[in-house]
Amino acid sequence: MLTTYISMYYPENFLSYLCSMAEDIQIISGTKAEQYQSLLPQIKGLLEGEPDLVANLANVVAALKEQFGWLWVGFYLVKPSSSEVLHGDKTELVLAPFQGPVACTRIRKGRGVCGTSWEKETTLIVPDVEKFPGHIACSSLSRSEIVVPVIRNNEVIGVLDADSENLNFFDETDQHYLEQIVELILF
Ligand code: SME
Repeated sequence: MLTTYISMYYPENFLSYLCSMAEDIQIISGTKAEQYQSLLPQIKGLLEGEPDLVANLANVVAALKEQFGWLWVGFYLVKPSSSEVLHGDKTELVLAPFQGPVACTRIRKGRGVCGTSWEKETTLIVPDVEKFPGHIACSSLSRSEIVVPVIRNNEVIGVLDADSENLNFFDETDQHYLEQIVELILF
């Protein structure tokens, strides 16, 4: 009914524009790899043709949260430091689109899992956050974590962080697919 009404009063391309706004993620059960394989092309579709970074980061974390139901998933981006005078750091990680409980807004290089992933320019899988020296506990519920650096032109420009309430939750399968997912995003 609504589509008939719209097609009577609006040009054809308006209808397809409206449809392109109604994105649904298809959630599947299966192995972890199967879930990522189903999600990857859907994330590609969500990102296609959209140049806005915040919109894209928001949709990527929403899709991951919907499929996997993790405690927390989100991005931190490298931005000018708010406390350069105090610490001498010119840049720091600043909270960007995420899904889950409220989180720490700023993380310095080399601090916590995120800051260490940034400093070492590598993905970190932390099976037990309590055993990671300097782990920053944004949520007391978090038990394990994975942090994937976003690297462009040989420089870390942000990280993707995911937290679980369960110990030993993330592994090389998550690393493999999350690294692919961050590659898809145009920064
Ligand atoms: N645990 C992270 C901080 C970010 S939150 O988990 C959202 C860390 O140690 O860097």
